[in-house]
Amino acid sequence: MNMQRIQTLEGNHNLENYEDTYKNFNWDEVKDAFSWSHTGKVNIAYEAIDRHAENPDKADQPALIFSSPDRQEQLTFTDLKQASNQFANVLKKHEIQKGDRVFLFMPRSPEFYAAFLGILKVGAIAGPLFEAFMEQAVRDRLEDSEATMLITTKDLLERVPVDDLPNLKQIVLIDGDGEGFISYEEEMKEASKSFDIEWVDLEDGMLLHYTSGSTGKPKGVYHVHNAMLQHYQTGRWVLDLQEGDQYWCTADPGWVTGTSYGIFAPWLNGVTNVVRGGRFSPDDWYETLQNHGITVWYSAPTAFRKLMSAGEALVKNYDLSNLRHILSVGEPLNPEVIAWGMDAFHLRVHDTWWMTETGAQVVCNFPSLDMKPGSMGKPIPGVEASIIDNEGSELPPNQMGNLAVKAGWPSMMRAIWKRPEKYESYFLNGWYISGDSAYRDEEGYFWFQGRLDDVINTSGERVGPFEVESKLIEHKAVAEAGVIGKPDPERGEIVKAFITLNDGYEQSDELLEDIRQFVKRGLSAHAAPREIEVKDKIPKTRSGKIMRRLLKSWELGLPTGDTSTLEE
Ligand code: PRX
Repeated sequence: MNMQRIQTLEGNHNLENYEDTYKNFNWDEVKDAFSWSHTGKVNIAYEAIDRHAENPDKADQPALIFSSPDRQEQLTFTDLKQASNQFANVLKKHEIQKGDRVFLFMPRSPEFYAAFLGILKVGAIAGPLFEAFMEQAVRDRLEDSEATMLITTKDLLERVPVDDLPNLKQIVLIDGDGEGFISYEEEMKEASKSFDIEWVDLEDGMLLHYTSGSTGKPKGVYHVHNAMLQHYQTGRWVLDLQEGDQYWCTADPGWVTGTSYGIFAPWLNGVTNVVRGGRFSPDDWYETLQNHGITVWYSAPTAFRKLMSAGEALVKNYDLSNLRHILSVGEPLNPEVIAWGMDAFHLRVHDTWWMTETGAQVVCNFPSLDMKPGSMGKPIPGVEASIIDNEGSELPPNQMGNLAVKAGWPSMMRAIWKRPEKYESYFLNGWYISGDSAYRDEEGYFWFQGRLDDVINTSGERVGPFEVESKLIEHKAVAEAGVIGKPDPERGEIVKAFITLNDGYEQSDELLEDIRQFVKRGLSAHAAPREIEVKDKIPKTRSGKIMRRLLKSWELGLPTGDTSTLEE
């Protein structure tokens, strides 16, 4: 097989001619797909669910197939319309209004999707939180967003510092009741299945996703209903969704992939969305692909690498003949994974590049475009991406620089919650600066090179070193901490911490494990350092900033470069 270039796929694709479409496409063409092009009023939940429920050909088609080790459930577009209406009525009854922040802290379940859509139907802003978050992570997000309502489960409630969050007035419990809580079950039973949707403006808010940067606490990336244009259109072009598809996106809706492509793209396109709860295991994943006859599968390099190491013999036990299209996001997609995909499934794995801030896919591989393994592909029609220097000028082919996107694409974040100056800082000369470095070759393919800041990407999850450092120094034994991403063959990077100890503490395996557990309990498992190294001193600049670059050079045995700002 020629791994330099893999030819386009046979068959009919929604995007037949990339170059022509790129030249001629205009976002106005897409608007007719939605009801608001006639009414001027909009609600993304209506376009995703109710529009299909009102179509006799679609109304009884499964919208959601939920499958976890202990629960199997199927909801049609009509079922999901009614369940989200019921929840919207519950929200109305408790006086949730347009623009209010309502957060969800719970595992994937049919209730999650009904609640999430219900929040959008009242015009409120949904804030999904990953169930693995621990108290500090939950607190930071609820505090910053000033959320007034939280939907959660009995088990997770202990990680919510209820008494410390003055804005948080109401808590809905999915699986129980209790003094002072709203019972999901009880209230849903009584709620009407019809609801008058709150029609909003395209530029009104719908979603807050917290994500990590290299400095400070996680920031709230704010998205508006207008994003549906790009969710829908990339669902067609990139996911290549077609009538009758059984689509599976493996991401949790606590991350942007799990909302943009685990909720909006499939449903805006009227496709059956398979959601799998529970933990990763190669057998369960192959079983999901087989038993639900998955046709289009969107996952991440970490998962592919794990399946790869589970061996090719395992794949052969399953009938995966329905599978037509595979996609990847979140971290660099290794050419080895693509080679494995060709062997194991006889299919290409299509890399897609985008981020929480872009709201939807930007640079992608398309079924009708030749693929160059190792390249992220080309920008979607209607969006301009480029490589620019630090002054904001475009660079010629093959020169490395900032991967940037021309501001104004439909799903672009519209704010960083309550931090206008932070938001502005992402833009230069009309370009959104992604923080990734890349180059573009003569044929217009983009090649990812790395992060330009200290953000860590472990198993596709973004970890801010500052958050981990702040947590580490809360431990009684830790005096100072510096945190970096260390390259790792399976996880991409792992979190590695360098610490100094307070007087009276001796390094021991037990102590280091205790520190690790402390971060895990405080933030989340993925933020907990897999390696901790005790040092006499943490290198800092004279102004007191931790020199993570120097730590990284030490770790990798690289030249340390300019250390002129290092404190004595
Ligand atoms: O560094 C890039 C990496 O993930 C970052 C965005 O992370 P997040 O906002 O959590 O969103 C992940 C899912 C949309 C990017 O700045 N990244 C994402 N996709 C790729 C990637 N790195 C290399 N190749 C990709 N395809």
